Amino acid sequence: MRAFVIGSPIQQTLSPAIFYYLSKKMQRSLEYQKKEIRPDEVDAFLAELRRAQDVIGCNVTLPLKELISGKLDDLSDEARFLGAINVISSENGALKGYNTDVVGIQKTFERFRLDLKDKEVLVFGAGGSARALIYVLGKLKLKSVYIFNPRSPRGEDLVLEAHKKFPDTIFKNIKSLHEIHSTLGLVVNSTPVGMGGSDPTEIFKFLKDLAFEKNTLAFDFVYYPQETPFMDIANKLQLKVVNGLDMLIDQALATWAIWQKESVGPYHLHDDLKEYLNKILSLKNDKLPITIVGFMGAGKTVLAKTLSNLTGRELIDLDETLEKETGMSVADIFDKKGEAYFRELEKSALALAIKKPRTIIALGGGAILDSDSLKLVKDLSYSIYLEVNETKVYERLKDQISTRPLLRGSSPEVRISQLLNARKEAYEEANLKIDTSSLTPDEVLFKLLSEWDG
Ligand code: S3P
Repeated sequence: MRAFVIGSPIQQTLSPAIFYYLSKKMQRSLEYQKKEIRPDEVDAFLAELRRAQDVIGCNVTLPLKELISGKLDDLSDEARFLGAINVISSENGALKGYNTDVVGIQKTFERFRLDLKDKEVLVFGAGGSARALIYVLGKLKLKSVYIFNPRSPRGEDLVLEAHKKFPDTIFKNIKSLHEIHSTLGLVVNSTPVGMGGSDPTEIFKFLKDLAFEKNTLAFDFVYYPQETPFMDIANKLQLKVVNGLDMLIDQALATWAIWQKESVGPYHLHDDLKEYLNKILSLKNDKLPITIVGFMGAGKTVLAKTLSNLTGRELIDLDETLEKETGMSVADIFDKKGEAYFRELEKSALALAIKKPRTIIALGGGAILDSDSLKLVKDLSYSIYLEVNETKVYERLKDQISTRPLLRGSSPEVRISQLLNARKEAYEEANLKIDTSSLTPDEVLFKLLSEWDG
């Protein structure tokens, strides 16, 4: 089965990591791809979706959420009120739109056992996710909701619509936080302010002048960085804080249920999935290059590609870099120029690559034989050694011996054994070692994430 996440431009998103994890844990095959779709390509994309038998659905990100909601065969109640969808399910060519922001917000409230009845709430922002929040708050019949979105008229429109749909709650669009004189029981940032470490500007500055109840929750929809600027300010005011990761996870679990036609999502996986995503976020956050070392056939390139996909780090495959640079295959460089020449190229390429931040570098099996290179790897990167035993190397490479210059000749098994023994000590210098001999590439990834201590 296949599914997509679409947007334009397609942003950094944790969705591929989440659905990768869910498909493995739930043992359902799902190929999940990011796809850049411009607004003018939406009609053609939806037509393709209606035709494709093997696509179960699609996640939708900015700026397509509203545009697409008007083009589907059916909408859930939430999606109809919100006028925006983030999930499409496809069944025999019929496309239905959902908005799982709502369930994501509800579940976060449930996790904190918040009793919001009769509470007063402040919401920063009036965009798509603020609408989802208003929907939840309106259903809970809160006393009053202040919407603060000073830079656009959207707050006014949202207040008018919310009044119509939820007459039991007072909605107020405020121009300044000083218009609030009551004690708040919940404060939410639904704007992207603070995302990716962006400047929190002045927007949260006057929070310090407001009155809060004892257990007030400060809920930031932003989840990256993990400690957001909004949470930082709220912490100083001694409020309880939560970022948007729980919400994101619950949204995805609800999406899973929609796609699998199940009535509830696999919520029992929430905590494990959170731990896994927090690892990925810290991998993403950290600037230190990650190097992957180990013998031929250990799975360095495969792991590097997956990690680059999941974390958004730039992938540098050293062998590929050299092939591009010279216009020759690695085997040709060995044959025509000799190993010493190859090693020099490899050494300079590594010295250059390792200076770049936020990369995943897959090294060739012999790259760390050079002592300067080994030092660079140790000093300037977090290194992962993918270990593999002789038998497995031979099993994995026996059909490619002709393209492996160091293994050609009458007894590749002996060569493998000699080379492995000569290199082991250098490989062992890495920060983390994973024995891949009896693991599939997915198992290697999961093991890495569970043992990661970078
Ligand atoms: C080599 C490994 C190869 C490549 C070259 C030399 C080695 O890379 O750099 O053939 O000395 O072990 P992989 O380990 O990525 O196959």
